[in-house]
Amino acid sequence: MSFSLTPASAFSISQLASLLTRGFEEYFVPIHITEAVLLTMLRRDSIDLSASRVLSKGGQPIGIGLIARRGWTSRLAAMGIVPTARNSGAGTWAMGQLIEEARARGEKEMLLEVIEQNTAGLRLYTKAGFQNVRRLVGFKLDKPQGGAGTPLAEMDIRELGRLVTVHGLPDLPWQLSGATIIQHTPPARAFRINDAYCLISDPALDHVSISSVLVKTRSRGAGLSGVLLHALFARFPNKTWHVSAIFPEEMSFIFEQAGMQREELTQWQMRLAL
Ligand SMILES: CC(C)(COP(=O)(O)OP(=O)(O)OC[C@H]1O[C@@H](n2cnc3c(N)ncnc32)[C@H](O)[C@@H]1OP(=O)(O)O)[C@@H](O)C(=O)NCCC(=O)NCCS
Repeated sequence: MSFSLTPASAFSISQLASLLTRGFEEYFVPIHITEAVLLTMLRRDSIDLSASRVLSKGGQPIGIGLIARRGWTSRLAAMGIVPTARNSGAGTWAMGQLIEEARARGEKEMLLEVIEQNTAGLRLYTKAGFQNVRRLVGFKLDKPQGGAGTPLAEMDIRELGRLVTVHGLPDLPWQLSGATIIQHTPPARAFRINDAYCLISDPALDHVSISSVLVKTRSRGAGLSGVLLHALFARFPNKTWHVSAIFPEEMSFIFEQAGMQREELTQWQMRLAL
């Protein structure tokens, strides 16, 4: 087999963006990675291009693995093989190398998320030894009708990131962790009502994502997250609200009680001890 790996840092952002787009062709949801999207991913998710790899066969790039790193933990942030090179052992070979490299860097665990319905991805990661941590789910709600909600106070996203680090689950998926939340910037906005907090994407647009919901430990069980979401829907009416499938299934009640519908695509949060 003539597979080889090159550090992604040897390629331009534009080359990497186009290789990622090709690697995710025929995916479950349409993926088009522009340079701007990739730059945001790198900054927000702590992707390390010097540890990320472009996979080549016979000198031609056929795939890419993006590796994010924080302390002793790394995350496979994206793995894509171009359609013509799939199902011929490329992914298996590259995954083995990426795991060995993470061990050699002294890391202690590798994390990833994979769409539950992605048979090839799930097979690849299970074979490499990754184990399920929990199911991750997403939600949607189109233009909720709402009366006047409780007033929301706006706050610095950076402060919300700090609170998530203190009060959130210690093993939250990478993109929900305080370390990621702190990297969000305007036009995203953070709001609070008493001990309940949230982060949303630009509410000036028709489609708005809820990227974080937090209730401080001392105030849990009192329905505060429901009050917060209703207040959000009232403050920004006529929006389509999205929650990507990165939220722990045990947090479903927050979105269900606000009338949101669960999305069909779900993910597994997976972990490998190195
Ligand atoms: C997932 C992906 C990276 C796997 O890479 P690959 O080079 O196709 O992987 P391999 O050829 O090494 O196959 C890995 C396993 O998946 C199985 N597999 C591959 N394609 C499959 C398919 N279409 N349906 C079912 N199983 C499949 C293989 O048989 C193999 O299992 P085995 O060793 O038990 O036989 C690649 O298919 C891909 O890029 N898909 C699109 C992007 C994507 O889904 N990325 C992962 C997101 S987390």
